[in-house]
Amino acid sequence: MAPVCLSCHGPAGSIPPEVKKILTERYPHDTATGYASGEVRGAIAVKVPLQRETSR
Ligand code: HEC
Repeated sequence: MAPVCLSCHGPAGSIPPEVKKILTERYPHDTATGYASGEVRGAIAVKVPLQRETSR
């Protein structure tokens, strides 16, 4: 988390009301709040094969 992330992922009081409103509308099940700057929010791994599949 960087400071810029906290306007959506920070503690409830740090999310501006207009952002909070849209997050609630579009992400009603969002629980990704309450984080502080410097915390790890998540990790994503992507694997891409080096060779194309050979066509038959
Ligand atoms: C404008 C609001 C906003 C900002 C700013 C923002 N995020 Fe998010 N982020 C979201 C929303 C909304 C989701 C999706 C939540 C859901 O799926 O319930 C999300 C999802 C994620 C996910 C996806 C994985 C997961 O567990 O859902 C990660 C990782 C993440 N944010 C990290 C960051 C980081 C790092 C920053 C700052 C560089 C950041 N976000 C800034 C709104 C924001």
